[in-house]
Amino acid sequence: MCGIVGYAGKNRAVPYLLEGLEKLEYRGYDSAGIAVNEEDVIRIMKTKGRIGNLESLIASQRHSDATVGIGHTRWATHGKPNDVNAHPHISQSGLFCVVHNGIIENYLQLKAQLIADGYRFVSETDTEVIAHLLEQNYDGNFVSTVRKTTAMLEGAFALCILCRDFPDSIVCTRWASPLVMGKSDDGVFLASDVTAILKHTSDIYYLDGHETALIADGGITFFDKAGNATQKAPKHIDWNVSAAQKGGYEHFMLKEIMEQPKAIQDTVSPRIDSDGRIVFEDFHLTDEEIENLNRIVIVACGSAFHAGEVGRYVLEKMTRIPVETAIASEFRYRDPVLDAHSLVIVISQSGETADTLAGLRLANEKGAKTVCIVNVVSSSIANEGGSVVYTHAGPEIAVATTKAYSAQVSVLYLLAGYIADRKGLLPEEERRTYVDALRKLPELIAQTLEDCGEQMQKLSEMFIPLEHAYFIGRNLDYACAMEASLKMKEISYIHSEAYAAGELKHGTISLIEKGTLVVALAACSDVFGKTMSNIKEVKARGARVLCVSTSENASAMSEVDFKVIIPDTLPLFAVTLEVLPMQLLGYYTAKNRGCDIDKPRNLAKSVTVE
Ligand code: F6R
Repeated sequence: MCGIVGYAGKNRAVPYLLEGLEKLEYRGYDSAGIAVNEEDVIRIMKTKGRIGNLESLIASQRHSDATVGIGHTRWATHGKPNDVNAHPHISQSGLFCVVHNGIIENYLQLKAQLIADGYRFVSETDTEVIAHLLEQNYDGNFVSTVRKTTAMLEGAFALCILCRDFPDSIVCTRWASPLVMGKSDDGVFLASDVTAILKHTSDIYYLDGHETALIADGGITFFDKAGNATQKAPKHIDWNVSAAQKGGYEHFMLKEIMEQPKAIQDTVSPRIDSDGRIVFEDFHLTDEEIENLNRIVIVACGSAFHAGEVGRYVLEKMTRIPVETAIASEFRYRDPVLDAHSLVIVISQSGETADTLAGLRLANEKGAKTVCIVNVVSSSIANEGGSVVYTHAGPEIAVATTKAYSAQVSVLYLLAGYIADRKGLLPEEERRTYVDALRKLPELIAQTLEDCGEQMQKLSEMFIPLEHAYFIGRNLDYACAMEASLKMKEISYIHSEAYAAGELKHGTISLIEKGTLVVALAACSDVFGKTMSNIKEVKARGARVLCVSTSENASAMSEVDFKVIIPDTLPLFAVTLEVLPMQLLGYYTAKNRGCDIDKPRNLAKSVTVE
């Protein structure tokens, strides 16, 4: 949610800032801007719209040779996406300039005080408060002024700041919003996401909460929460640059769909030993703690929540522990019943989702055991989890998740198998069958993508004129229906709903009329017959039905209008294959409708506001 970049070095800053912003545009894209420190003035160039608009604006203006600058791409929270509200924001006399990720919760109070003190505001943003406060608190020392100012802020922030009096420096700090930096021979690069600076270095410094960094003379000095200078070692990141680029695909989303075999392989294979046992070095519960678990709660948002819905069925079936899923924004305000015998599984690709992070903190406070399934290394959620199990999906750039979702589901399969095994619920032969099927998933995913690509492209054509679509299924198929429906609506802007197939007749079936498109997910063999009955009910009301199931059920699908067949696997794993044609359906429908697939309207990749 919003992207920040910064550069201080020996070359011109503008090209680096634009290059970084382009890489971060998926985090927010309703306006963008940069600021460079030019001798005795901080110069700002900013505009509403995409980075392309900013590039045109900069090209139309006087060339800048400045070697220090900051930049921002915005996802509006306070005030409309327009030129004035775009970042950077500058203080009244032009002394300080700031870009900000996050939300300042006490900004109205601070703003009222600043107005009373004679400061004039030009934007509607919370961020402008920070610029004026910096000026008001200025004591001649850049770092201590920033520290004094951030001590007055409540909420979340990652800040990069320029000061006119220190033309060679940037100061940055953060709380509850990420900020990373790295050095190369060309200078120091800053960003809210490693993908923006990977091209320049893979050795990344992660700024801790309330830590401050002074970037000057090609070096970085870190100050801890108390203001003492500290040493910090970089972490080596093995995501390569090409993984963060499109690699010949028209969109990141399609590339990431196609990367799923590798994402699952990389996530699963290091966690299966040579004897075919699931091993979890990163899951720290003892056998006794596992034995004493009386409850599992899975907390997440959006697609990560849908992955959790798959996990609910699989974990409950395998471990015989009651499992509940909770949408993080609801969970955090619920006063849930949790204790040392509860396991809270927190799922997040970005590791920065504000509600999910708050859910994790609540679970930690209540003394529950926590395990976080996270893709982004050293993210806030990863840093605060009792155990952290990383998905190895690599960087996910498209706003709509695909490979990270599938990698999350694969970790839940591993966890379910592991806990069942530790509890003695997985006899040798069943364990082998389970693990063999898990190992075979990457190959089956590749086969499914290969087999259904063209078919989904063709089938997507009938979705082009639609205003509504319905996705139905039972049990694991219902979990898949939720994700399929979200994929369709978020990128193609077709209204779609997911229903438990048996629930339709309790109201929603009144919306079914001649020509309505119903997508039935029917890969779960134990409820296949039941779903078929629901298909008959909607067919009788004139619906057209597209049905996804396995080859063993192909002959029993005579009622449906369009069949999509996925390979056979264990019933618990079929959902992982079933979701693939649904991702492709959403993708091709959005493409046919001319939508901006990788950056759907109003969305952002990492939702760091509640
Ligand atoms: C939808 C999508 C979102 C995210 C949700 C949680 O395609 O990507 O629904 O799943 O915003 O994000 P993370 O996993 O980063 O916590």
